[in-house]
Amino acid sequence: MENGLFDLDGKRALVTGAGRGIGLAVARALARQGADVALVARTQGQLQAAKEQIETETGRTVWVFPADLAEVKHVGRLFEEVVRATGGVDILVNCAGTTVREPSEDASLESFQRVMDVNLTEVLLLCQAFCRQRKQAGRPGRIINIGSLACHAARPTIAAYACSKMGVLALTRTLAVEWAKYGIHVNAIGPGYIATDLTAPLQADAQFSQWVLSKTPLNRWGRPEDLVGTAILLASRAGDFITGQIFYVDGGWTALV
Ligand SMILES: NC(=O)c1ccc[n+]([C@@H]2O[C@H](COP(=O)([O-])OP(=O)(O)OC[C@H]3O[C@@H](n4cnc5c(N)ncnc54)[C@H](OP(=O)(O)O)[C@@H]3O)[C@@H](O)[C@H]2O)c1
Repeated sequence: MENGLFDLDGKRALVTGAGRGIGLAVARALARQGADVALVARTQGQLQAAKEQIETETGRTVWVFPADLAEVKHVGRLFEEVVRATGGVDILVNCAGTTVREPSEDASLESFQRVMDVNLTEVLLLCQAFCRQRKQAGRPGRIINIGSLACHAARPTIAAYACSKMGVLALTRTLAVEWAKYGIHVNAIGPGYIATDLTAPLQADAQFSQWVLSKTPLNRWGRPEDLVGTAILLASRAGDFITGQIFYVDGGWTALV
Protein backbone atom coordinates (compact mmCIF):
# COMPACT_ATOMS: atom_id res chain seq x y z
CA MET A 1 0.00 0.00 0.00
CA GLU A 2 1.21 3.50 -0.81
CA ASN A 3 2.75 5.18 2.23
CA GLY A 4 0.79 7.93 3.91
CA LEU A 5 -2.47 7.32 2.03
CA PHE A 6 -4.49 7.77 5.23
CA ASP A 7 -2.23 10.35 6.93
CA LEU A 8 -3.71 13.66 8.05
CA ASP A 9 -0.45 15.25 9.19
CA GLY A 10 -0.64 19.04 8.99
CA LYS A 11 -4.44 19.03 8.55
CA ARG A 12 -6.96 20.75 10.79
CA ALA A 13 -10.48 19.43 11.23
CA LEU A 14 -13.64 20.92 12.68
CA VAL A 15 -15.97 18.27 14.12
CA THR A 16 -19.42 19.20 15.40
CA GLY A 17 -21.18 17.02 17.96
CA ALA A 18 -17.75 16.00 19.21
CA GLY A 19 -18.47 15.96 22.95
CA ARG A 20 -19.50 12.30 22.93
CA GLY A 21 -20.73 9.45 20.72
CA ILE A 22 -19.90 9.32 17.02
CA GLY A 23 -18.44 12.82 16.80
CA LEU A 24 -16.00 12.17 19.62
CA ALA A 25 -14.88 8.87 18.06
CA VAL A 26 -14.34 10.55 14.68
CA ALA A 27 -12.44 13.50 16.20
CA ARG A 28 -10.15 11.10 18.11
CA ALA A 29 -9.52 9.08 14.97
CA LEU A 30 -8.66 12.14 12.86
CA ALA A 31 -6.23 13.27 15.58
CA ARG A 32 -4.64 9.80 15.67
CA GLN A 33 -4.03 10.20 11.92
CA GLY A 34 -2.21 13.47 12.61
CA ALA A 35 -4.87 16.20 12.40
CA ASP A 36 -5.36 18.98 14.92
CA VAL A 37 -9.04 19.14 15.81
CA ALA A 38 -11.61 21.77 16.78
CA LEU A 39 -14.61 20.41 18.67
CA VAL A 40 -18.12 21.90 18.87
CA ALA A 41 -21.02 20.89 21.15
CA ARG A 42 -23.08 22.56 23.87
CA THR A 43 -21.81 20.76 26.98
CA GLN A 44 -18.57 22.42 28.07
CA GLY A 45 -17.63 19.61 30.50
CA GLN A 46 -17.81 16.97 27.75
CA LEU A 47 -15.79 19.14 25.36
CA GLN A 48 -13.11 19.69 28.00
CA ALA A 49 -12.94 15.95 28.77
CA ALA A 50 -12.70 15.19 25.04
CA LYS A 51 -9.90 17.74 24.64
CA GLU A 52 -7.89 16.25 27.49
CA GLN A 53 -8.41 12.70 26.23
CA ILE A 54 -7.41 13.48 22.64
CA GLU A 55 -4.41 15.63 23.57
CA THR A 56 -3.11 12.95 25.95
CA GLU A 57 -3.64 10.14 23.44
CA THR A 58 -2.29 11.86 20.34
CA GLY A 59 -0.28 14.93 21.30
CA ARG A 60 -2.28 16.93 18.74
CA THR A 61 -3.71 20.39 19.37
CA VAL A 62 -7.39 20.44 20.33
CA TRP A 63 -9.57 23.55 20.46
CA VAL A 64 -13.07 23.57 21.95
CA PHE A 65 -15.98 25.82 21.02
CA PRO A 66 -19.08 25.44 23.19
CA ALA A 67 -22.05 26.49 21.06
CA ASP A 68 -25.69 25.68 20.43
CA LEU A 69 -25.99 24.98 16.70
CA ALA A 70 -29.76 25.38 16.93
CA GLU A 71 -28.95 29.11 17.08
CA VAL A 72 -28.53 29.15 13.33
CA LYS A 73 -27.99 32.90 13.10
CA HIS A 74 -24.79 32.53 15.16
CA VAL A 75 -23.25 29.76 13.06
CA GLY A 76 -21.33 32.14 10.77
CA ARG A 77 -19.79 33.91 13.76
CA LEU A 78 -18.86 30.56 15.31
CA PHE A 79 -17.05 29.52 12.15
CA GLU A 80 -15.14 32.83 12.06
CA GLU A 81 -14.07 32.19 15.65
CA VAL A 82 -12.83 28.73 14.68
CA VAL A 83 -10.83 30.14 11.77
CA ARG A 84 -9.31 32.86 13.96
CA ALA A 85 -8.20 30.31 16.58
CA THR A 86 -7.03 27.53 14.24
CA GLY A 87 -5.82 29.45 11.19
CA GLY A 88 -8.43 27.66 9.05
CA VAL A 89 -9.72 24.11 8.71
CA ASP A 90 -9.20 21.59 5.87
CA ILE A 91 -11.82 19.10 6.99
CA LEU A 92 -15.38 19.71 8.21
CA VAL A 93 -17.31 16.88 9.87
CA ASN A 94 -20.98 17.73 10.45
CA CYS A 95 -21.98 15.26 13.13
CA ALA A 96 -24.08 17.22 15.65
CA GLY A 97 -27.59 15.86 15.52
CA THR A 98 -30.77 15.45 17.45
CA THR A 99 -34.15 13.77 17.10
CA VAL A 100 -37.69 13.82 18.38
CA ARG A 101 -39.79 10.66 18.44
CA GLU A 102 -43.51 11.40 18.20
CA PRO A 103 -46.46 10.36 16.03
CA SER A 104 -46.40 12.61 12.97
CA GLU A 105 -50.03 13.67 13.48
CA ASP A 106 -49.04 15.18 16.84
CA ALA A 107 -45.72 16.72 15.80
CA SER A 108 -45.47 20.41 16.62
CA LEU A 109 -44.03 22.97 14.25
CA GLU A 110 -41.53 23.92 16.97
CA SER A 111 -40.08 20.41 17.35
CA PHE A 112 -39.98 19.93 13.56
CA GLN A 113 -38.19 23.26 13.12
CA ARG A 114 -35.70 22.54 15.90
CA VAL A 115 -34.65 19.18 14.43
CA MET A 116 -34.36 20.75 10.97
CA ASP A 117 -32.23 23.61 12.36
CA VAL A 118 -29.77 21.35 14.21
CA ASN A 119 -29.56 18.55 11.63
CA LEU A 120 -29.80 20.46 8.35
CA THR A 121 -29.87 24.27 8.39
CA GLU A 122 -26.70 24.68 10.43
CA VAL A 123 -25.03 22.02 8.24
CA LEU A 124 -25.74 24.16 5.17
CA LEU A 125 -24.45 27.28 6.94
CA LEU A 126 -21.24 25.61 8.12
CA CYS A 127 -20.65 24.13 4.64
CA GLN A 128 -21.09 27.59 3.09
CA ALA A 129 -18.68 29.20 5.57
CA PHE A 130 -16.19 26.37 5.01
CA CYS A 131 -16.44 26.78 1.23
CA ARG A 132 -15.84 30.54 1.41
CA GLN A 133 -12.80 30.01 3.63
CA ARG A 134 -11.35 27.32 1.34
CA LYS A 135 -11.90 29.49 -1.76
CA GLN A 136 -10.26 32.47 -0.08
CA ALA A 137 -7.28 30.33 0.96
CA GLY A 138 -7.13 28.75 -2.52
CA ARG A 139 -7.02 25.35 -0.82
CA PRO A 140 -9.02 22.13 -1.30
CA GLY A 141 -11.20 20.70 1.46
CA ARG A 142 -13.21 17.73 2.65
CA ILE A 143 -16.71 17.76 4.05
CA ILE A 144 -18.16 14.69 5.76
CA ASN A 145 -21.83 14.86 6.70
CA ILE A 146 -23.32 12.30 9.05
CA GLY A 147 -26.51 10.97 7.52
CA SER A 148 -28.58 8.01 8.70
CA LEU A 149 -30.53 4.95 7.62
CA ALA A 150 -33.28 7.58 7.28
CA CYS A 151 -31.46 8.66 4.08
CA HIS A 152 -32.44 5.24 2.74
CA ALA A 153 -35.87 4.28 4.08
CA ALA A 154 -38.62 5.32 6.44
CA ARG A 155 -39.61 4.39 9.99
CA PRO A 156 -42.62 5.67 11.94
CA THR A 157 -42.47 8.62 14.41
CA ILE A 158 -39.34 10.38 13.14
CA ALA A 159 -40.67 12.62 10.37
CA ALA A 160 -38.54 15.63 11.26
CA TYR A 161 -35.40 13.53 11.63
CA ALA A 162 -36.07 11.72 8.33
CA CYS A 163 -36.69 14.99 6.47
CA SER A 164 -33.52 16.50 7.89
CA LYS A 165 -31.36 13.48 7.02
CA MET A 166 -32.85 13.15 3.51
CA GLY A 167 -31.98 16.84 3.24
CA VAL A 168 -28.41 16.12 4.36
CA LEU A 169 -28.09 13.55 1.57
CA ALA A 170 -29.51 15.98 -1.01
CA LEU A 171 -27.19 18.70 0.24
CA THR A 172 -24.20 16.34 0.11
CA ARG A 173 -24.85 15.48 -3.53
CA THR A 174 -25.63 19.06 -4.56
CA LEU A 175 -22.54 20.56 -2.93
CA ALA A 176 -20.37 17.74 -4.28
CA VAL A 177 -21.28 18.51 -7.87
CA GLU A 178 -21.20 22.28 -7.33
CA TRP A 179 -17.94 22.55 -5.36
CA ALA A 180 -15.83 19.92 -7.14
CA LYS A 181 -14.41 22.86 -9.10
CA TYR A 182 -12.98 24.25 -5.84
CA GLY A 183 -11.43 20.90 -4.90
CA ILE A 184 -13.97 20.44 -2.11
CA HIS A 185 -15.13 16.83 -1.75
CA VAL A 186 -18.48 16.32 -0.05
CA ASN A 187 -19.58 12.90 1.17
CA ALA A 188 -21.85 11.39 3.79
CA ILE A 189 -21.75 8.46 6.17
CA GLY A 190 -25.00 6.67 6.97
CA PRO A 191 -24.59 4.86 10.29
CA GLY A 192 -26.78 1.91 11.17
CA TYR A 193 -27.98 1.65 14.75
CA ILE A 194 -25.06 2.75 16.92
CA ALA A 195 -25.04 2.50 20.71
CA THR A 196 -24.81 6.14 21.91
CA ASP A 197 -26.79 8.49 24.16
CA LEU A 198 -29.02 9.33 21.19
CA THR A 199 -30.24 5.74 20.94
CA ALA A 200 -30.20 4.98 24.68
CA PRO A 201 -34.02 4.74 24.90
CA LEU A 202 -34.03 2.34 21.94
CA GLN A 203 -31.26 0.16 23.40
CA ALA A 204 -33.21 -0.01 26.66
CA ASP A 205 -36.31 -1.28 24.82
CA ALA A 206 -35.70 -5.04 24.59
CA GLN A 207 -38.23 -5.53 21.79
CA PHE A 208 -36.79 -2.70 19.72
CA SER A 209 -33.24 -3.86 20.34
CA GLN A 210 -34.17 -7.35 19.17
CA TRP A 211 -35.69 -5.84 16.03
CA VAL A 212 -32.41 -3.98 15.38
CA LEU A 213 -30.45 -7.24 15.67
CA SER A 214 -32.90 -9.04 13.37
CA LYS A 215 -32.37 -6.35 10.70
CA THR A 216 -28.58 -6.24 11.07
CA PRO A 217 -26.85 -9.19 9.36
CA LEU A 218 -23.74 -8.66 11.52
CA ASN A 219 -26.11 -9.18 14.46
CA ARG A 220 -25.05 -6.43 16.83
CA TRP A 221 -25.48 -2.75 17.55
CA GLY A 222 -22.72 -0.65 16.06
CA ARG A 223 -20.16 1.21 18.12
CA PRO A 224 -19.00 4.78 17.41
CA GLU A 225 -15.55 3.35 16.56
CA ASP A 226 -17.11 1.35 13.69
CA LEU A 227 -17.47 4.63 11.75
CA VAL A 228 -13.95 5.97 12.03
CA GLY A 229 -12.39 3.96 9.19
CA THR A 230 -14.81 5.46 6.68
CA ALA A 231 -14.30 8.95 8.10
CA ILE A 232 -10.51 8.62 7.73
CA LEU A 233 -10.94 7.35 4.15
CA LEU A 234 -13.10 10.34 3.23
CA ALA A 235 -10.81 12.86 4.97
CA SER A 236 -7.52 11.59 3.56
CA ARG A 237 -5.73 11.18 0.22
CA ALA A 238 -7.25 7.70 0.04
CA GLY A 239 -10.52 9.46 -0.83
CA ASP A 240 -9.06 11.61 -3.64
CA PHE A 241 -11.57 10.38 -6.27
CA ILE A 242 -14.63 10.05 -4.02
CA THR A 243 -17.28 12.74 -3.87
CA GLY A 244 -21.08 12.94 -3.71
CA GLN A 245 -21.43 9.53 -2.09
CA ILE A 246 -23.10 8.15 1.01
CA PHE A 247 -21.45 5.17 2.70
CA TYR A 248 -23.75 3.10 4.88
CA VAL A 249 -21.81 1.68 7.82
CA ASP A 250 -24.68 -0.42 9.07
CA GLY A 251 -23.67 -4.04 9.64
CA GLY A 252 -25.43 -4.97 6.39
CA TRP A 253 -28.82 -3.38 7.19
CA THR A 254 -29.38 -1.75 3.78
CA ALA A 255 -28.30 -4.93 1.94
CA LEU A 256 -31.03 -7.04 3.56
CA VAL A 257 -34.34 -7.55 1.76
N1 LIG B 1 -26.52 6.67 17.14
C1 LIG B 1 -27.08 6.23 16.03
O1 LIG B 1 -27.59 5.10 15.95
C2 LIG B 1 -27.09 7.09 14.82
C3 LIG B 1 -27.57 6.51 13.63
C4 LIG B 1 -27.61 7.29 12.49
C5 LIG B 1 -27.17 8.59 12.52
N2 LIG B 1 -26.71 9.13 13.68
C6 LIG B 1 -26.26 10.52 13.64
O2 LIG B 1 -24.96 10.64 14.17
C7 LIG B 1 -24.80 11.92 14.75
C8 LIG B 1 -24.25 11.79 16.14
O3 LIG B 1 -25.16 11.03 16.90
P1 LIG B 1 -24.75 10.26 18.23
O4 LIG B 1 -25.49 8.98 18.21
O5 LIG B 1 -23.28 10.28 18.41
O6 LIG B 1 -25.49 11.21 19.29
P2 LIG B 1 -25.08 11.70 20.74
O7 LIG B 1 -24.27 10.68 21.44
O8 LIG B 1 -26.33 12.19 21.35
O9 LIG B 1 -24.11 12.95 20.41
C9 LIG B 1 -24.61 14.06 19.74
C10 LIG B 1 -23.58 15.15 19.77
O10 LIG B 1 -24.14 16.30 19.13
C11 LIG B 1 -24.11 17.40 20.03
N3 LIG B 1 -25.27 18.24 19.81
C12 LIG B 1 -26.58 17.89 19.85
N4 LIG B 1 -27.36 18.97 19.69
C13 LIG B 1 -26.53 20.03 19.53
C14 LIG B 1 -26.72 21.41 19.36
N5 LIG B 1 -27.95 21.95 19.31
N6 LIG B 1 -25.64 22.21 19.24
C15 LIG B 1 -24.39 21.70 19.32
N7 LIG B 1 -24.14 20.39 19.49
C16 LIG B 1 -25.20 19.57 19.61
C17 LIG B 1 -24.14 16.75 21.41
O11 LIG B 1 -23.58 17.56 22.42
P3 LIG B 1 -24.44 18.51 23.40
O12 LIG B 1 -25.68 17.76 23.79
O13 LIG B 1 -23.49 18.77 24.51
O14 LIG B 1 -24.71 19.73 22.59
C18 LIG B 1 -23.22 15.55 21.19
O15 LIG B 1 -21.86 15.94 21.28
C19 LIG B 1 -26.18 12.62 14.66
O16 LIG B 1 -26.19 13.44 13.53
C20 LIG B 1 -27.13 11.44 14.46
O17 LIG B 1 -28.29 11.81 13.78
C21 LIG B 1 -26.66 8.41 14.84
